[in-house]
Amino acid sequence: MVSRATAELDVPPRLLMGPGPITVDPRVLRAMSAQLVGQFDPFMTTTMNETMELYRAVFRTDNEQTFLVDGTSRAGIEAALVSLLEPGDRVLVPVFGRFGHLLQEIAARCGAEVHTVEVPWGEVFAPEAVEDAVVRVRPKLVALVQGDTSTTMCQPLAGIGEICRRHDVLLYCDATASLGGNPFEADAWGIDVATAGLQKCLGGPSGSAPVTLSPRAVEVIDARAHVEAGIRSDQDTDRGTRIASNYLDLGQIMAYWGPRRLNHHTEAGSMLYAARECARLLVAEGVDAAVARHELHGRAMLEGVRGLGLAVFGDVAHKMTNVVAVEIPDGVPGDAARNALLEDFGIEIGTSFGPLAGRVWRIGTMGYNARRDAVLTTLAALEQVLRGYGVPVTAGGGVCAAREVYA
Ligand SMILES: Cc1ncc(COP(=O)(O)O)c(C=O)c1O
Repeated sequence: MVSRATAELDVPPRLLMGPGPITVDPRVLRAMSAQLVGQFDPFMTTTMNETMELYRAVFRTDNEQTFLVDGTSRAGIEAALVSLLEPGDRVLVPVFGRFGHLLQEIAARCGAEVHTVEVPWGEVFAPEAVEDAVVRVRPKLVALVQGDTSTTMCQPLAGIGEICRRHDVLLYCDATASLGGNPFEADAWGIDVATAGLQKCLGGPSGSAPVTLSPRAVEVIDARAHVEAGIRSDQDTDRGTRIASNYLDLGQIMAYWGPRRLNHHTEAGSMLYAARECARLLVAEGVDAAVARHELHGRAMLEGVRGLGLAVFGDVAHKMTNVVAVEIPDGVPGDAARNALLEDFGIEIGTSFGPLAGRVWRIGTMGYNARRDAVLTTLAALEQVLRGYGVPVTAGGGVCAAREVYA
């Protein structure tokens, strides 16, 4: 018998309306199918430079050091934290969901002395609460998430950047789930380091992590320079405490993306094409226009689920534009209902983690799927699934409410 593993890949059609990954923009898929060139081919290095330029526009920064880390979003997070933090450094992590806990965990693995402050899931921090903790902890770095998809909350950052500058603290932000669909201003908000991924509002696959570093963050990393044996030259002298990871050493990665073209890793060419195309599409649309598109379709989905009679979780005034958490109605088996949506309609939505596992569904409207037809189709299908479980939904209530937003 011939194993199914030898059959051609036959991916079922799906509309990915969860918290990410989302359906990849076909233009990004096309870019990824382009042929590769050599690692130092002029086409390759030009494409890398163009990608840096495009991501400066996406992050809204003049930072020279704006490039990609090969790996999923958490590779970008690890690269930032392992390159900035030395064992024993104090770091403050304001936690308002699962991904704050991830920052805490990664910082602890770097050997940092990690301090956290927390608010209940569904809320964000007032800047004063962060300032009080900064004054108490006196950290080298504040690390926090902008949009925590586990709760759908979007932490306001402008005030926090200002606080960090005033107390001479570095500010790192995980913008994986929010960049491109929510306002983000690396320079204007005083963010020293931000990292992201492609699989949310940027409309790509996971596997590449755009990163931007302010000059003061670069200084901290340069003070820890250790170029690996075999590729180092006379100009390289070891400085400071060596960064504990070779692969995620942002000093060596900067030297690879910069004019020196240090032969560190082999750039993941197809992901470079993907990342470039994601940013190109966003910049061509206009970053503000893309944020406005996410706001519009996110609002239509929000009003749509309310129109179905469902309750929305968390502080809606601070909700990310691109995802909504809906309380699963009493008596409805959350996972079975999600499966019905997938099997009968080819539509995927998500549940959440920790205290929200099995309590909410998370429905995304992001990247390529921040579109009217995707929103209306999802609401129509969800209504049918809820009816199947005997939920007394308003007939057509979801689609009607969303269409009013579009009117
Ligand atoms: C805010 C945030 N940070 C980090 C991650 C981790 O990203 P990845 O799975 O690409 O490593 C995610 C993924 O959902 C996320 O939403």
